[in-house]
Amino acid sequence: MNELPSDIIEFIESIKNEKNSESNLIEVLHMIQNKYGYLSEENLTKVSYLMNIPLAKITGVATFYHYFKLKPIGKYVINICMGTACHIKKSDILAEKLKEELGIDFGETTKDGLFTLMQSRCFGACALAPIIKIGKDVYSSVTVDQIPKILESYFLKEK
Ligand code: FES
Repeated sequence: MNELPSDIIEFIESIKNEKNSESNLIEVLHMIQNKYGYLSEENLTKVSYLMNIPLAKITGVATFYHYFKLKPIGKYVINICMGTACHIKKSDILAEKLKEELGIDFGETTKDGLFTLMQSRCFGACALAPIIKIGKDVYSSVTVDQIPKILESYFLKEK
């Protein structure tokens, strides 16, 4: 089993004997996610061992907070707004097209690790609906015909 990075091990060592050391668990999980992008089962097992906290409890904390990711995240996170204004402008059809083009469902990552597909509730820019965000890029008034071209531009960046 590979070791966790030394700074995380040192942090765990420094808080291990504190009475409320379990309350530091969230900070440890943040450190691991910042380092690896997600919380692997292997790393959660290491934390369980090092902090002497049952794995089930750690997994419970990790799944309770939506911020924590238990699966690898793609290089580009595609976030499609499924709020009311975007829904009226057919964001559900855009979502189906994205799923079809990428071969994944919401919450999943393409096999090449390039894209993760997520949905959001409102980006606060309803006048520009429907909206898709890819990484830091924002696409407004998107039509279904534009989806392949938009995705292609990211594939081309990788060549
Ligand atoms: S509903 Fe999509 S931006 Fe508001």
